[in-house]
Order: sequence, then structure tokens, then C-alpha cells
Amino acid sequence: MVMVRASAASSGKHNKSTRLVILCAALFGFGLIADYLWASSSGFNSISRWVSVRNSQTTQIIVPYKTPPPKVTAEESKGKEKSDTQDGSGRFLSATFADLPAPELEWQRMADAPVPRLDGAAIQIKDLFYVFAGYGTINSVHSHVDIYNFTDDKWVGRIDMPKEMAHSHLGMVTDGRYIYIVTGQYGPQCRGPTARTFVLDTETKQWGDLPPLPFPRYAPATQLWRGRLHVMGGSGENRYTPRLEHWSLAVKDGKPLEKEWRTEIPIPHGGPHRACIVVDDRLYIIGGQEGDFMAKPGSPIFKCSRRNEVVYGDVYMLDDEMKWKPLPSMPKPDSHIEFAWVVVNNSIVIAGGTTEKHPVTKKMVLVGEIFQFNLNTEKWSVIGKLPYRVKTTLVGFWNGWLYFTSGQRDRGPDDPAPKKVIAEMWRTKLKLNS
Ligand SMILES: *[C@@H]1O[C@H](CO)[C@@H](O)[C@H](O)[C@H]1NC(C)=O
Ligand SMILES: *[C@@H]1O[C@H](CO)[C@@H](O)[C@H](O)[C@H]1NC(C)=O
Repeated sequence: MVMVRASAASSGKHNKSTRLVILCAALFGFGLIADYLWASSSGFNSISRWVSVRNSQTTQIIVPYKTPPPKVTAEESKGKEKSDTQDGSGRFLSATFADLPAPELEWQRMADAPVPRLDGAAIQIKDLFYVFAGYGTINSVHSHVDIYNFTDDKWVGRIDMPKEMAHSHLGMVTDGRYIYIVTGQYGPQCRGPTARTFVLDTETKQWGDLPPLPFPRYAPATQLWRGRLHVMGGSGENRYTPRLEHWSLAVKDGKPLEKEWRTEIPIPHGGPHRACIVVDDRLYIIGGQEGDFMAKPGSPIFKCSRRNEVVYGDVYMLDDEMKWKPLPSMPKPDSHIEFAWVVVNNSIVIAGGTTEKHPVTKKMVLVGEIFQFNLNTEKWSVIGKLPYRVKTTLVGFWNGWLYFTSGQRDRGPDDPAPKKVIAEMWRTKLKLNS
């Protein structure tokens, strides 16, 4: 089992001025125009190429792939570079894109979700898993919730969302009955956000609303803490600029107790796609990124174009003192994990995500590891491998099983770049480190 100390991880890797330069460069249009977020899925690698699949009555048991050494093909490196960790000048590059050694887990394939989704959201309430919204393809978005029951392992229901609700990059949290749904992107491609904010009563399946956020955000960190709905960070209206603002609103039983959002202590860095978790009356924010795809200027369909992104693995905690305290960083930078976590036995468990882009190919690199942050010891470890690398996956835990569904998976064991948007649901017996 690999234990990773704080100092081995990514904090401090990008100093402030480097980041500023990178951000400015990207803002002024040096960002890469990308097609590879949304590659056509025609050449989807058959699963049997890299896992051995055995059919049982209703599920498939698979043995996950062996991690291949990271590799750059001749075509990818265009003959410029000698290896993936050394550039032409002999300078060694960061290897955070590489898979980390991780124990093999036995995965079972369960029933697919009714639709594939990317950048969706999920909330677990007891044995029900509510899976919201998301892109189906880059040009279409979902406007409904699918519900999975972990006890009988079936998709059991569907709820339509209000028409005004965002379709991706939502902030979302529950108190155990009411689900609060905050801001997010409205529409497909890289369209603009809405500040509208909603509540779903899961008992009556009725929707209500809350005062809109002061400004719309993409994928802000969102939690309920001490009777208040907290929303922080995310990207601003242009989908790219990291925002630091932090607001809160007193809520109870699905109703706002105040008319306006209150300004709170800003978060240490802004940007979308970090995990935000409350355990034992402490609020944690983990990972995430600065920067994101933006709409191509002048594009009538708001076509997504890639800009530079910086991915973080750092962790901050807020307690009584209302000051952010740094904690040990993740074993590698990790983003797109806002609904990819569960808390089990005083450990935070996070599955998949995206890490820093490949230093040579510049392609987006997905994460295939499962991480554990033990809150007793404040230590991270890598506790297993997913059946494939996947980002914005939606994670639940029931009766000893760790589940994940949805997201965008890799191109295969040799290529960690994103490809197919999935509907698959998988589970494995969760084994935590003590
Ligand atoms: C989930 O399914 C089980 C078995 O059918 C059922 O007993 C349980 O009530 C369901 N959960 C909810 C919250 O409806
Ligand atoms: C959590 O703790 C309980 C009680 O000690 C134990 O039975 C269970 O196996 C633990 N769960 C995991 C996933 O480690």
C-alpha cells in the first residue's frame, strides 16, 4: 500500500508568478483550441481488449487492467522528445500525469444508467442515488434526474428538472431530505451560466427555489455547514476566470431563512471542480483547477475551445476559527471530483478525476486511482484502481460497496486522454487502510 506524504504531492509546484503568466497567456488567446474533449466515440475500444470479462447472471466480474508504463507514441511526440519525462533539452518534466501504483480491485458491472452523462451531479440519500443533469453529447444536455436504488440495484425512477435549472457544473448538497441545487451552466457546448438556485424535496418530489446567487458560477464548491448553504469558488461568467468569492445563506427544511446571500471568507484559490465535504463540523475543500474550456469568441453555438488549466491537489479546512488551514495534499493533482467522493469511517474516499495535462502531448489526462484521506491520521493513500480512468464520475457507498456511474472515460489503458461519455455503473467492495 502506498502512503504518500504531504511533501510528495503538488502543493507549491506552481508559484504565484508562474500561475499568473500561464493565466495571462491563456486569456490572451494562446490557449490550445481543442477537439479532444469531445472526440467522436466511433472507435470505442472494446472492453475485452484490456480486461477479462466474465458474465454472471446480472453482472460482469472483471479484473482491472495492469497499469502499463506511461508511454508516448512516435506520432504523439512528433519525433521531438526522447521520453515522456524528459524534454528535448534534457529537462525533467513533472510526471504527475502518470498512473500511480495501486492495488487491483474486483469490479462488478451493474445496470447502466438510462442515459450517459458528463459533468452531471449526484446526491445519495440512504439507499437512493439521485443522478442529475449533465451533457449527453457536447451538443445536448439532460434536464432530468435518474434514481438508482442500492438495495435492489436497479434504476427505479426519474424526475424532470425545472426548465430554468442549469444542466451541468451545478453546485449541489443535501440535508438528508432536501437537495439544494445552485447555479451552473445553462445549455450545451460552453454556454453561459445561470445564477438560479433550486430545492428538491425528495419525499414529495416537489421543486422550490431560493434567492439566486449574487453572480452565476460554474462548478462552485457547495456544502451545508452549520445551518447555512455555502457556495464558494468556481469559474466566473466567462467559464474560465477563477473566482474566490464565498457566500452563504441560512436554510432550513428546503426554505431560505434570509433574503440575501452573506459574504464569507474567500477560498484560497478559485476555479471549478473541487470536492467540498463537511465531516465532524469541519469543512474541507480538495483539489480542483483554475481555468477551463471557454466559448470560442463569436461562435453562435458557443463552441467549446480549450484554454490552459492548472490542476491542484491541495486540501484546505475551515473550522471554528474561520481561517483556511492547509492539510496534506492529494497524492497527485486532481480535478472534476465534485461528486466523486464519499465519507466512510472517518475517511474521505475520492475516485478518478483529471490531473495535469501530459507534458509532451498536452492532452488532458484522466485519473484511474481511488484515494483515501484518513481524517484520524490526516494521511492520503492510494487504495485501488477503477476499471478505467474516468472524470466527473458520480460516487456512492452502500452496505460495504463503493459505486460509481457516469462521466467520461479514457481511450484505453495506454491512453489516458478522455473519450467516451458513459452510462455504466460499477461497484467494488471498499477496503480502507487503517
Ligand atoms: C429500495 O429498494 C428496497 C428493496 O426493494 C426497498 O425495500 C426500499 O424501500 C427502497 N428504498 C427506497 C428509499 O425506496
Ligand atoms: C467501517 O467500520 C466498521 C466498524 O468498525 C467496520 O465493520 C466496517 O468494515 C468499516 N468499513 C470499511 C469500508 O472499512
